[in-house]
Amino acid sequence: MSYHEMTYSLGDRQVARLGYGAMQLAGPHVFGPPADEARALQVLRGAVASGVNHIDTSDFYGPHITNQLIKKALHPYADDLVIVTKIGARRDEHANWLPAFSAAELTRAVEDNLRNLGLETIDVVNLRAMFDTHGPAEGSLEAELETLIALRERGLIRHIGLSNVTAKQVVDAQALTTIACVQNLYNIANRQDEALIHHLAAQGIPYVPFFPLGGFSPLQSEQLNDVAKELNATPMQVALAWLLQHSPNILLIPGTSSPEHLQQNLASGALRLSPTAIARLDAISQH
Ligand SMILES: NC(=O)c1ccc[n+]([C@@H]2O[C@H](COP(=O)([O-])OP(=O)(O)OC[C@H]3O[C@@H](n4cnc5c(N)ncnc54)[C@H](OP(=O)(O)O)[C@@H]3O)[C@@H](O)[C@H]2O)c1
Repeated sequence: MSYHEMTYSLGDRQVARLGYGAMQLAGPHVFGPPADEARALQVLRGAVASGVNHIDTSDFYGPHITNQLIKKALHPYADDLVIVTKIGARRDEHANWLPAFSAAELTRAVEDNLRNLGLETIDVVNLRAMFDTHGPAEGSLEAELETLIALRERGLIRHIGLSNVTAKQVVDAQALTTIACVQNLYNIANRQDEALIHHLAAQGIPYVPFFPLGGFSPLQSEQLNDVAKELNATPMQVALAWLLQHSPNILLIPGTSSPEHLQQNLASGALRLSPTAIARLDAISQH
């Protein structure tokens, strides 16, 4: 089966399991414009031309710039394209990431995303939690979700998702409203969310790992190298193929600023990992 045929539901749409994460398109530290705008536009157009119909973004990438690139490259959007954004942070002039959780900030963030993407409604908005630590931490998201529910009632948002959250926050949020997807840090080496992924799979809810390749410092491992050599693939392709085979509700949004890497990432959908290869790769995780 080619990756075009591997789909999963996201909100009320079906998307290819291999999507694209747009964060790498902004300048260094996800701040400012890209060094080569034409190349960034080429990546976006190449993704959609190759069958990607799920793009992950945020207006705090750049800020604003990544969304403006998406609009420039792809607007008017194909009917089947699902754009997912996230809100809950803002950038200062030193490129720091600061929480932005008040009702006014969340509302402004949705309006900024709409304007910069050139949309009247955003398919999915993830509320990205940010408490004391970088990673998920317990704390109530009720007030913030109420704001998003009100924005959905106004027609500005179609579906609500969560990002950087604990399993308890997912359950608590589901008591308030339908949650369309969960986006947390997860990859072959960082598997703290194992139980959450399977819990969501049982409900038909997509789990969208961020940093699927390890993020700003891509994964390095002997096992990845060995399996890649045997399959005549690259280690990054094996890391993505492992995710695709791990659970059917995993939707991939690998990020790249390179047209070549984009095509390599999409080609990972054709790789088949044997049970022996999977057992070797499973040993990479420290959890
Ligand atoms: N919710 C959140 O808090 C959150 C946080 C982070 C990211 N995200 C989302 O998740 C998406 C994915 O995460 P990410 O982009 O940060 O990290 P990633 O997908 O794990 O990895 C991106 C890194 O891998 C490199 N890369 C990509 N394809 C490659 C290939 N085939 N061969 C070698 N290197 C390759 C990229 O460099 P090149 O540009 O040189 O290819 C970049 O340095 C983001 O784009 C963003 O949309 C969400």
